[in-house]
Amino acid sequence: MRAFRSMTPTTMRAVVLRAAGGPDQLAVEEVATPVPRAGEALVRVHAAALTRDELEWPVDRLPAIPSYELSGVVVAVGDSVDDVAVGGEVYGMTAFDRDGVAADYAAIPIELLAPKPHALSHTEAAAVPLAALSAWQGLLEHGRLAAGERVLIHGASGGVGQFATPLAARLGAHVIATASARGIERARELGADVVIDHTAGSWEAGLDPVDLVFDTAGGDRLARSPAVLREGGRLVSVAEEPPHLSGVTSVYFIVHPDRGQLAEIGALLDSGWPPPAIDSVFTLEEAVSAFERTMAADKRGKVVLEAER
Ligand SMILES: NC(=O)c1ccc[n+]([C@@H]2O[C@H](COP(=O)([O-])OP(=O)(O)OC[C@H]3O[C@@H](n4cnc5c(N)ncnc54)[C@H](OP(=O)(O)O)[C@@H]3O)[C@@H](O)[C@H]2O)c1
Repeated sequence: MRAFRSMTPTTMRAVVLRAAGGPDQLAVEEVATPVPRAGEALVRVHAAALTRDELEWPVDRLPAIPSYELSGVVVAVGDSVDDVAVGGEVYGMTAFDRDGVAADYAAIPIELLAPKPHALSHTEAAAVPLAALSAWQGLLEHGRLAAGERVLIHGASGGVGQFATPLAARLGAHVIATASARGIERARELGADVVIDHTAGSWEAGLDPVDLVFDTAGGDRLARSPAVLREGGRLVSVAEEPPHLSGVTSVYFIVHPDRGQLAEIGALLDSGWPPPAIDSVFTLEEAVSAFERTMAADKRGKVVLEAER
């Protein structure tokens, strides 16, 4: 391992999920600071962002450190690492099948890390990877959205929606958004052509058929979505398994890390794309409150843990 090891403490704080059951099962513990293996970088975590429902993801491999997206500074690298420099500011999404990044340090395979967008703070940058990659992969890889198509985005001002909405607009689609009252104005600012308050009655009434539904909300909106698709349309959800009906292509997908996509997203953010909305910022010690906040009905944007002492 190269660099700065002498300045890195041998133990660190980490948020640990001890048992299934949600935020009450979290504790902040002193654990061994990871040592980067070949192909990994040790990142001093400045900020780690949280996703609603994510504490349900690692319940088959507990105890587990949550949060799978971070922004920070490389403090050491393992063997065979040439393209990430010590001192470099990076951001990234980490794999769901190993410990996450709600800690002072995280050892991360370098193929998961991209340069942090210069225009964003660490707190803002941490809020980007998981949600933006979900939007990118949902619209492009699974939804195959093309210019001129009509796309309906559910939860257009939420964590994933705030990236999906401007991306769909940039791709030249006609963007119809659903949001609850608190997100209507934000969805317009993000580039939606039409915004529907789904809490104000039947959101699908009077809607002409769409080519693609991209769902980030699940529940009733997802269940009622096949009715607004044209024959042969596509229904893609990142929130939960969509209904499977004949004449409709239905897809639920799990987002995957992608350094190249993150670099493109970073360039868009540096060229003036709207930065992510940050709902609230907590310390590592406040992790229980932070995870409770991810579930709040009045949340507006991402919840972020700052790991600086
Ligand atoms: N499969 C994957 O790989 C993957 C990746 C990322 C996220 N996810 C999941 O996809 C979903 C969306 O992620 P996100 O970061 O966009 O989440 P989010 O911002 O919390 O929620 C997205 C939208 O869902 C609606 N919503 C429904 N229940 C809610 C609640 N209890 N609290 C707040 N909003 C609620 C809201 O829409 P309105 O304001 O329009 O009502 C909100 O804008 C989450 O369930 C997340 O766990 C899965």
